[in-house]
Amino acid sequence: MAKRRGGGGLGDRGARQDSAYKRAKAEGYAGRAVYKLQEIDKRFRLLARGRRVLDLGCWPGSWMQYTAGRVGEDGRVVGLDLREVEIALPSTCKSFVGDVDEVDPKALLEKFGVFDVVLSDMAPNSSGDSGTDRLRSEMLFSRALYIATVVLRPGGHFAAKVFQGGGFPQLLKDVRAAFSECKPLHTKGTRTGSPEHYIVGRGLRRTVDPDAEVDESAQAGG
Ligand SMILES: C[S@@+](CC[C@H](N)C(=O)[O-])C[C@H]1O[C@@H](n2cnc3c(N)ncnc32)[C@H](O)[C@@H]1O
Repeated sequence: MAKRRGGGGLGDRGARQDSAYKRAKAEGYAGRAVYKLQEIDKRFRLLARGRRVLDLGCWPGSWMQYTAGRVGEDGRVVGLDLREVEIALPSTCKSFVGDVDEVDPKALLEKFGVFDVVLSDMAPNSSGDSGTDRLRSEMLFSRALYIATVVLRPGGHFAAKVFQGGGFPQLLKDVRAAFSECKPLHTKGTRTGSPEHYIVGRGLRRTVDPDAEVDESAQAGG
C-alpha cells in the first residue's frame, strides 16, 4: 500500500498535484498542466517569439496562457477544445469549440494560415476501463499528428500527450517518420508508473496535402 505523507490524507502524487495546483492559481494560470508544457518547452525549445501555435485540447486554457507569453505580440495562438475556454486571454489568442475528429485541417489552414508548432494535451473522458481510455488516447494522438502534418510548415514542431498502450511503439514510428527528431518523455508532473507520456517531434520533414494523398490512393486503386 502507498505511503501517505503529511497527515493531510494525500499521497505523494496528491500532495505534488495539490502544490502544483496552488502554484498555478497563485501565478494566474488556469491549470497545473502549464508546468508540463513549461518543462517540455524548456527541454525542446518549441516556442519562441513570433511563432504561430495550434493548441488541441486547450481547455481550461493554461497552455494557451503560457504559449501566448512565449510567442509575444507578433505570435498567434489558436486553441480548440470540446469545451469553451472561459478565461480572459490576450488578443493574440483565439479559441474555438470543436471536436478534433470533425475539424478539417485544411479549413484551419484557410482560416489561420500555416503553423510553426502544434501542441496537444487532449485526453479522453475516463470510461472506467483503462484499456479503452488508452486506445482512445492513442486515437486522439494520431489525429493530432495527422492535423500537425497538414497545418505545420516544413521544419515545424509537434508535442502531444498519449496514455501509453499497445499502440505506443507504432505512434513513435509514425512521429519518427514525419519529423527529423522524435523523443518520448514523462514530465516531472507525471507520477511514476502513470501511462501518461508526451511525444515530441522536431522538424517536420514535409507538409502533407490531404487532396494529393487522396489523389495518389485513387490512382493506385484504379
Ligand atoms: C488535460 S485537458 C487540457 C488542459 C490544457 N492543456 C490546459 O493547460 O489548460 C484535456 C482536454 O482535451 C479535450 N478533448 C478531449 N477530446 C477532445 C476532442 N475529441 N476534441 C477536442 N478536444 C478534446 C478535453 O475537453 C479537455 O479539455
